[in-house]
Amino acid sequence: MRMVPKLMADRSALILYESLSGNTAQLAMIIREFLEEGGTVIERMPLRSFLHLSFADAEEITQKTQKILIGTYTDNTHLPPEPIEELMETYSFPDQHIAAFGTGDTQWGDTYCLAAHTVARHYNSPYPVLEIEQMPSSSDQEKIEQWLEAIDND
Ligand SMILES: Cc1cc2nc3c(=O)[nH]c(=O)nc-3n(C[C@H](O)[C@H](O)[C@H](O)COP(=O)(O)O)c2cc1C
Repeated sequence: MRMVPKLMADRSALILYESLSGNTAQLAMIIREFLEEGGTVIERMPLRSFLHLSFADAEEITQKTQKILIGTYTDNTHLPPEPIEELMETYSFPDQHIAAFGTGDTQWGDTYCLAAHTVARHYNSPYPVLEIEQMPSSSDQEKIEQWLEAIDND
């Protein structure tokens, strides 16, 4: 039987993602679909749009939820991507738990999905990091669901 994560009693989550060629955006979309199936109210927003908000507007969005899911690609020439760096410098999210997810390419070896791990470490995330190779496919479904269950069950 398929477990449908609800992300805690408040049933809300914010997904912020940084994506250049679309892989991480697609992963963010899949995550949103899974959560919406479980009745969770999701706000999904490109990180660059979030960073353009006023502090008041950003706070209005973040205060609605206890969990923020942050996704990023990894580019070893600039680790982490600049918008992720700006987010970490600007927002501390003291009232939320952060979960990190990323897409990457295993051929980069030690830096595979490193930016997502940087986000997790920076925000002291209590959750595992979801790593997906390039564009997510149906074979990643179980891994994504397990990750959401880990977030759900804290
Ligand atoms: C110049 C360049 C450097 C990259 N370096 C890394 C890396 O160090 N680690 C990694 O896991 N992936 C690396 N990648 C792969 C991307 O992170 C991967 O393709 C990712 O899915 C892109 O996400 P996006 O489509 O959301 O932009 C690199 C890709 C490029 C083009």
